[in-house]
Amino acid sequence: MLDTRIARRTALMGAGAVAAWLASPARALMQAVGQVQSPAFVDELISRMTLEEKAGQLSLMASAWGGGVALSLNPASAGANFQQQVEEARQGRLTGVFNGNGATMARVMQTAAVKESRMKIPLIFAADIIHGHRTIFPVPLAEVASFEPELARRTAAAAAYEAAGAGIDWTFSPMVDVARDARWGRGVEGGGEDVLLGRLFAAARVQGFQGGDLKSVDHLLACIKHFAAYGAAESGLDYNTVDMSQERLREIYLPPYKAGFDAGALSAMASFNEINGVPSTGNGWLMNDLLRGEWGFQGFVVSDYTGDEEMIAHGFAKDGRDAARLAFLAGVDMSMQSGLYREHLPDLVRSGAVPQAKLDQSVRRVLALKAMLGLFDDPFRRIDVKRESARSMLPQTRLLAREAGRKSIVMLKNDGDLLPLPRSGKKIALIGPFASGPHDLVGPWVVYGDDAKAVDLAAGIRAALASKDSLIVAPGSGVEEPLAGGIAQAVAAARAADVVVLAIGEGANMSGEAQSRTEIVVPEPQQRLAEAVAAVGKPVVVVLKHGRALALEGAVANAQAILATWFLGTETGNAIADILFGAASPSGRLPVSFPRSSGQEPFYYAHKSTGRPNPPGPLEPYKAHFRGIPNSALYPFGHGLTYGKIDYAAFTQSAPSIPMSGEIEFTARITNRGARAAEEVVQLYVHDRVASLTRPVRELKAFRKLALAPGQPEVVRFTIRPAALSFVGGENKLVVEPGTFDVWIAPSAESPGVSGSFDLLA
Ligand code: NOJ
Repeated sequence: MLDTRIARRTALMGAGAVAAWLASPARALMQAVGQVQSPAFVDELISRMTLEEKAGQLSLMASAWGGGVALSLNPASAGANFQQQVEEARQGRLTGVFNGNGATMARVMQTAAVKESRMKIPLIFAADIIHGHRTIFPVPLAEVASFEPELARRTAAAAAYEAAGAGIDWTFSPMVDVARDARWGRGVEGGGEDVLLGRLFAAARVQGFQGGDLKSVDHLLACIKHFAAYGAAESGLDYNTVDMSQERLREIYLPPYKAGFDAGALSAMASFNEINGVPSTGNGWLMNDLLRGEWGFQGFVVSDYTGDEEMIAHGFAKDGRDAARLAFLAGVDMSMQSGLYREHLPDLVRSGAVPQAKLDQSVRRVLALKAMLGLFDDPFRRIDVKRESARSMLPQTRLLAREAGRKSIVMLKNDGDLLPLPRSGKKIALIGPFASGPHDLVGPWVVYGDDAKAVDLAAGIRAALASKDSLIVAPGSGVEEPLAGGIAQAVAAARAADVVVLAIGEGANMSGEAQSRTEIVVPEPQQRLAEAVAAVGKPVVVVLKHGRALALEGAVANAQAILATWFLGTETGNAIADILFGAASPSGRLPVSFPRSSGQEPFYYAHKSTGRPNPPGPLEPYKAHFRGIPNSALYPFGHGLTYGKIDYAAFTQSAPSIPMSGEIEFTARITNRGARAAEEVVQLYVHDRVASLTRPVRELKAFRKLALAPGQPEVVRFTIRPAALSFVGGENKLVVEPGTFDVWIAPSAESPGVSGSFDLLA
């Protein structure tokens, strides 16, 4: 594995720190959590359960409480009414519900289950706690821009604290699907395009949600999803087919799931997609052989919402009974929402199509997890109405959301040092559909958050300005529709101002599930607004709202300054103002590559060379590029500017070559030559020049986040051992091959930074 060290005590957090955590006692504790203990009473319960009650323990439904909120977050289905659902709990037909509404609802249902059902088995309450409960943190992709897994651990822990306080035991999170096609709308929920970041953030989030003890009323059971390779849907179309080699699956897509399980996650969700012709929900190789066999996973697997039933539409199952049989035998322990398990499993067992022992094993897994969550000791342990409100949106949680927001912002461009803006003495025109108003703040995939409780950009800017009169606000356009008279008003505002802050981009409903886009651009009416405002001639700062990488064009791409701000949640306006006015230097780096054009997708930095790579410089004929543009990034993975001026120099390496049993150290001197303090994310990439299977042009192997005072040089050290240079070889095994490797210590995946090369000896 890769080991990193740093010369001085300025490292904030990076791969090395997480690597240290991976070897720490806290990790050992998490691994203990990863071991399922099935108490003896579980088998005693199983011995007394009917087949129907067993199938009930494997059936999870969207909550019917609160006017069908849970159902509205997923495709409509025939939901039960609440009284009917309580009755199902009484009859032992239900293992739990998800996306319900808090402690009051949970108390009613839990009472029915533990006081009025025959077996008195407690329900489990689940929810999509994706980026916060009531206090909403930046969308998961945004947080990865912090290059600070520890931040994600802290926000997951804070989300767990609020949610567990509201009666929730289990979150359907983290989503760790590697996503390399920005047309796919669900990249916003995950860890971006890179394997190393994907692994580190998966582990950190699991640790944050679960803590060291699942019985704790401050923590939740985590669920690694969507297993597997959901992010590789062809052409970025949600739910679409995945067809890929074992090498790619094992090297790129599987490691973040594995990292989440290694960190102790004890549930997994099967993905909607098929892989190589087999839907994940019916994929015995994936769940029985790989997950449980090879990886030793001991928790339980839940289907995604009606995923078992969808195998009929896939053309893999004949009917509901067949779908239930296939999913169950393939290793899905619990069925979400279709009701197929409780409808068919009892008879499938009676007819001999499903072995009784296998049914008992799945029930044992689920009951063991309920026991580990402390639900048999006290089924009401997380259900406390007073605790629910006492923990909701605490000032310290909001402060964390503001810190996370600030750290998620990436400054793409800052020509002429337009940013930071002064707090007084300049009139600012804040223009665009995202300038003000309680909308699109908390972002996609929020069940319990509320835009009305979030800070919009206008409020954040006003709070930072010395005089409130220096701000003029004009929406200019709707998100996807023009606004009557909007452009004229915006142009007038720009004329009356010294500088324009243009808040444009995607609405919250444009990314997330089923929100694939063919063109990943700023919507046309807003692009027109940007062109009109730019024509006024005032300096323009573009503040982008987005759930994916965007292909920026025209006046947007040409603005003097551009901030990528994603969806930042409850503290959106304050976090952006902190960066706009220089209370903090931007420290985020892109976790996804921004292409020049939508047509380049899928577009990611760790691509292969091809036999005809276009060399740097003018386009050459018969080389790998599209007509008219280089196949490089507009803004590469890892890119992000600061208010400092960061200089990379003095590359050193400890030896020209290393033996297989050795290690090699690289150093670089990083200096902040600017006048302001800054944080730099120093990245180490390698490239294996010749191998038995072709290797990516660059792979991120380590990074460090440094705080640099003006004028301050720091020597960063990275140590590489040969295991870090391994790849999945022809027989699906990790191999390390001797040969020459290039190394860069650089501020992005395309930057030359400082570099060298070394030989790995046979
Ligand atoms: C479908 C989504 O794919 C999944 O991520 C989510 O957890 C479930 N719906 C439940 O809401």
